[in-house]
Amino acid sequence: PRSAQGFTVFFTGFSGSGKSTIANALMVKLMEMGDRPVTLLDGDIVRKNLSSELGFSKEHRDLNIRRIGYVASEITKNGGIAICAPIAPYATTRRAVREEIEQYGAFVEIHVATSLEECERRDRKGLYKLAREGKIKEFTGISDPYDVPDNPELRVETENVEVDNCAHQVLLKLESMGLIAG
Ligand code: ADX
Repeated sequence: PRSAQGFTVFFTGFSGSGKSTIANALMVKLMEMGDRPVTLLDGDIVRKNLSSELGFSKEHRDLNIRRIGYVASEITKNGGIAICAPIAPYATTRRAVREEIEQYGAFVEIHVATSLEECERRDRKGLYKLAREGKIKEFTGISDPYDVPDNPELRVETENVEVDNCAHQVLLKLESMGLIAG
């Protein structure tokens, strides 16, 4: 049954959109179910541990996302749940990762649709300010592209919505896809 198979939840969105926060809340909820191991591949953590030599050119971002995709595909193949939360700005790269993972299980793309204006207003890490000042080059949304997902399994709004509510929307989607028991 699908509810016993592995799958990947792939969050995409701007820096500071709330991907990590929602991914963490989702991870807790999925771990409480306790039937399958849950692995979080967060953008910042992957960059620290798996992609520390990479920068933010298109080539390097693609390599980073392909690595995340590879690890997620192995987890999915082995019956686990992978939660990925990188920016993943390029639609073609997201598509390639989807195809790799769908050989083994479901790929659930979640667009964390926080607007650039809101991410910049929050500026949790102070990076948007540096990007505006030109001190960080190739910054997603400011001086580098972001392909808005055309057809994600789910799009979540985060403005005026609690994190737990966003994570709950993802759970409902997983339920409706038959990936977790209702
Ligand atoms: S991705 O494009 O390769 O998917 P990833 O999610 O790993 O990006 O890393 C994004 C994080 O790196 C951001 O949240 C931010 O903290 C940091 N960062 C540093 N430089 C940049 C940049 N030029 N563009 C986007 N994010 C950057």
